[in-house]
Amino acid sequence: MHFGDVWIGFQKGSEFLFGVVVNFHLTIELSLQCAQNGRRQDDIANGAESDDKDSGYGRHPGKSNRWGQTSDYFCAMSLIDTHSHIYLPQFDEDLDAMIARAREAGVTKIFLPNIDLDSIPLMHKLSDRYPELCYPMLGLHPCDVKENYIDVLNTMKPMFNDRKYIAVGEIGIDLYWDKTTLDIQIEAFKIQCAWAKALALPIVIHARDSFDEIFAVMDEIHDDKLFGVFHCFTGHADQAKKVMSYGNFLMGIGGVLTYEKSGLDVVAKDIPMEYLVLETDSPFLTPKPFRGKRNESSYVKFVAEKLATVKELSYDEVIGTTSQNALKIFRP
Ligand code: NI
Repeated sequence: MHFGDVWIGFQKGSEFLFGVVVNFHLTIELSLQCAQNGRRQDDIANGAESDDKDSGYGRHPGKSNRWGQTSDYFCAMSLIDTHSHIYLPQFDEDLDAMIARAREAGVTKIFLPNIDLDSIPLMHKLSDRYPELCYPMLGLHPCDVKENYIDVLNTMKPMFNDRKYIAVGEIGIDLYWDKTTLDIQIEAFKIQCAWAKALALPIVIHARDSFDEIFAVMDEIHDDKLFGVFHCFTGHADQAKKVMSYGNFLMGIGGVLTYEKSGLDVVAKDIPMEYLVLETDSPFLTPKPFRGKRNESSYVKFVAEKLATVKELSYDEVIGTTSQNALKIFRP
């Protein structure tokens, strides 16, 4: 039975983060999600939301035409895209159709990482349009940490009082695009980690060419109040071990897993499933078979399929476990 499975799953992971209180929360969360899925199932079956129903877009192989199944089936099929910038202008042309494809692929939650001050209204607009699907975060992306970063952060900080954000993100350090701002990137990262601790929110970390620098900050400030996700994890085995050593950080796996030369499959194979969540980072880092095109949240299913192959698990096991993991960190 569904609830039995969920409960057992959480018991296994109960030492992971918050213990029994979280287990209880998650049980409720997933049962609510099942109810919502049941409604969506009806909506889509009635043609209310799906413009592209017959295009074949967004369908998991062998899983189409199963909308008449019980809501338990939909819980098993519940994908969470934990990192997606689908509020960007790249989606203006086909937003509703793109959302319909995501739902048809089984995506029930999409978490929206912020970038800078300009992206906030775009993100709000999307999450207001799809309040039970799209959940915003708030934070300053490391590539956008410029000389005025203190002013930007001072503008952002009071916004946490105005509406619900599910994480402080995305934040971190990026030394691929600009090494000259390292000092202020570190400062901005530390300030936003302090927000997360005070607000009891997870952080979503962007680490590009910067694991050593991120780990140095983390070693300084990490405690049991700091938890979250290393988004788009593409590190080596030692870096995965270091992430796991913090005890309350997960790794976001995206389209890079499907790139043969990335070597991420080899690393991911040895990371226990309890540390993994799925993401797309749309519109970037598109998984195969659409690599090179715009990424979108429905494509998270290709990441799940690849992870199932890598881990020698069923597709349903992969999405069940990764979605449970996501809900241990995020409270949408
Ligand atoms: Ni991102």
